[in-house]
Amino acid sequence: MIRATTCGRRAFLLGLTAFATHLVLSRNGTGATVAWRPEGSPFGLGVASGSPTHDGFVLWTRLMGENLPTDQDVLVDWEVFEPDDPTRILAKGATAALAQLAHSVHAEVAGLAADRWYGYRFRLGEWVSTIGKARTLPQAGTPARIRFAYASCQHWEHGFYAGYRHMLAEQPELVLFVGDYIYEYASSTSAFAVRHHQLPAARTLDDYRARYAIYKSDPWLQAMHAHCPWLVIWDDHEVENDYAGLHSLYATEHFAKMRAAAYQAYYEHMPLRPSTMLAGVEGLLRGQELRIYDRVAFGRLATFHLLDCRQYRNVAVDKSRSMLGFPQEQWLDEGIGECTRQGVHWNLIVQQNRITPANYPSGAGKNASVDRWDGFHQSRERLIGSLVRHRPRNTLIIGGDIHQNWVARLHRDPYDIRSPVVASEFVGTSITSHMGRSQKEAERHAAQNPHTLLVNTEKRGYGVVDLTPERAEVALRVLDDPRQEDSGITTLARFVVEDGQSVRFATNQ
Ligand SMILES: [Fe+2]
Repeated sequence: MIRATTCGRRAFLLGLTAFATHLVLSRNGTGATVAWRPEGSPFGLGVASGSPTHDGFVLWTRLMGENLPTDQDVLVDWEVFEPDDPTRILAKGATAALAQLAHSVHAEVAGLAADRWYGYRFRLGEWVSTIGKARTLPQAGTPARIRFAYASCQHWEHGFYAGYRHMLAEQPELVLFVGDYIYEYASSTSAFAVRHHQLPAARTLDDYRARYAIYKSDPWLQAMHAHCPWLVIWDDHEVENDYAGLHSLYATEHFAKMRAAAYQAYYEHMPLRPSTMLAGVEGLLRGQELRIYDRVAFGRLATFHLLDCRQYRNVAVDKSRSMLGFPQEQWLDEGIGECTRQGVHWNLIVQQNRITPANYPSGAGKNASVDRWDGFHQSRERLIGSLVRHRPRNTLIIGGDIHQNWVARLHRDPYDIRSPVVASEFVGTSITSHMGRSQKEAERHAAQNPHTLLVNTEKRGYGVVDLTPERAEVALRVLDDPRQEDSGITTLARFVVEDGQSVRFATNQ
């Protein structure tokens, strides 16, 4: 089936050849576009794919350049082709780079074959983007395997993205990015900064756009985006440190407006489908909901539940206190139930923080951080309740935020290791972002936390997960030195989760 999906606006199917080529012209906004002839490549921020489905994905780029008409849309051509042969075009079309959205392009491609890799690129006049690769997802059945990577916290000033160079070599089929894609702070004065952007703390739409442009100029980040689809969720630094819903930790003036600008810039720079803007472009500009929580199924092998722990967070002290907001909690509960009914092998709860508790010498449940699930035990109990009620076959939690590798078991009673295990948690360290705690402190802390299998504060890196119906193998990959562009990499530890079991340590190689 050939389908043109374009954000609910006009779409035209132009042609179909014997090679199942289809042409889709999609126009957003007013439909009026202007011819712009850039003097250099307008694709300097690279390309990306995301939001994969069984028959398509979103292709992303953002036009940059001198004399880019600031108030007029520009039509950008795109092509989808055989992965190793750009001359064998399988689909093509044109999508408007909207002036209102920083001339970003979110081309929603549909009607492709399931479970298949594709190549893609953009064209504007004589300029052609780099080639990216994207894949569609298996529609049914149980695929034999998938490899995916998870990463978070890529403070651009704190290191070079050697992690992405190594991740690329591991050829994952998906990347889960679980937050802190940018940091909103003013340029760092700390000794561990290796590059400086000279920008003030981000507050306005232009500030956030400039920040993304800096981050996305990195060649290894671009290469990793071009390699495969990314599933992306945000954490706090895409807006402001430790914010919760519409509550600013710093009582920042006009925070709602600032958050709306930050959310808009996030959409502009991520391969999200246009329907993420629940109320369309105008709604996004007015600060309405950006629905990034989403569910992605890889056949019956795995379902990724991508959560938003920031936008709907409610810090009330009564029963309404919630990490996810009640509509999202209910959506997650229903999704877990549906996965059980469908016989999905692995439920991946992909979120931005740490769900298992961090106990302190003062005692279990004391000093609970209000920035993490520890401060939202009501939400955590409801999530555990969903897992107990629906009994999914296997549940893995992927998280970030804390700049340390943390591997732990989530128990029915999270503070009692004698209670049954309901999930295994892997919180990834940062790609680059600094962490001040020493390993000695971390080990003292781990001793207070018998549900943890590993805590490591000193290493930056990412995780790689190989999933089959029988087992999940997780490798914690860590850089020798994130401050070196040519840093080597090693494996801090490997863990295994056998079907129906909880996580166990495998090797430290
Ligand atoms: Fe972070």
